[in-house]
Amino acid sequence: MVESASLERMCAERHRRFESCSLCQKKERMSFSLESTKKEYNEKSVLETYKEYAEYGLWKSEKCVIKKYFNKADKILDIGCGAGRTTIGLYEMGYKNIIGLDIAEGMIEVAKQLAKERKLPVEFVVGNALELPYEDNSFDRVLFSYNGIMCIPKVKNREKVLSEIYRVLKPGGIFVFTAHDNEDESSKKYEKVWAEEMAKWERGEQDPNLEVFGDIIAESGNEGKVFIHISTLSECKNFIATQAFKILYTEMRRKIAKVPKYEENNFGECRLFVVQK
Ligand SMILES: C[S@@+](CC[C@H](N)C(=O)[O-])C[C@H]1O[C@@H](n2cnc3c(N)ncnc32)[C@H](O)[C@@H]1O
Repeated sequence: MVESASLERMCAERHRRFESCSLCQKKERMSFSLESTKKEYNEKSVLETYKEYAEYGLWKSEKCVIKKYFNKADKILDIGCGAGRTTIGLYEMGYKNIIGLDIAEGMIEVAKQLAKERKLPVEFVVGNALELPYEDNSFDRVLFSYNGIMCIPKVKNREKVLSEIYRVLKPGGIFVFTAHDNEDESSKKYEKVWAEEMAKWERGEQDPNLEVFGDIIAESGNEGKVFIHISTLSECKNFIATQAFKILYTEMRRKIAKVPKYEENNFGECRLFVVQK
């Protein structure tokens, strides 16, 4: 017979690893991944890094895409806005009808503080992309920048987020996001790492926290330990096709605009997508 203290410990361990818990059956698997995402992004060092990113502002490639696909009067939702890098950047470019939303309270506090310092009345809210607190057909444009949509654990959760974005966009509305492209030549240097990952999956030795090939817990000096799904172009196309979106444009960041040193050093290569409802 297992004592209740040790049962609790076993539960806690399963929840920490986002596994479904048949022991207590109290909470859904998803709520643990959301809790862990919040925890990851509320870490002090992560908040400091994202504050620095917000001070830097929009990427050159993002500015190009925004100028082409966004109108100044558009109602914009910036999901996973972090410390406000893109929200404040867009506001400063003249896109003033904008809301920044993030699940991590710490990120929203940092974003509000930065907007206050710059005397900008930007609206920031704590919210969950899986249950957007907005009516259907509310926004002209939605953004989920810097691979944020791929930082959401579980395929069904990422697809739920995409369906929420589709729901809140007006007909003809546009969604812009980025993801990795693991088949692009910029990823060649990681070929050996991914071959080893594949071998681990085939042997069934993969970390039980992970669900599908491409899932990793990335650890970097300045961004802490975070979940991310590393995708390919064909995978992203299938993902987009789970909703009735039309792909208007997709290109690697370095091919859209010359990548400044700061961006190259801090953000790594990724692919931008512009899709339309
Ligand atoms: C990689 S960071 C990008 C931050 C910001 N867009 C930028 O470019 O600096 C991903 C952000 O998504 C947020 N996030 C993750 N899951 C979320 C969810 N379910 N709902 C809302 N925000 C979420 C995280 O808290 C984090 O701030």
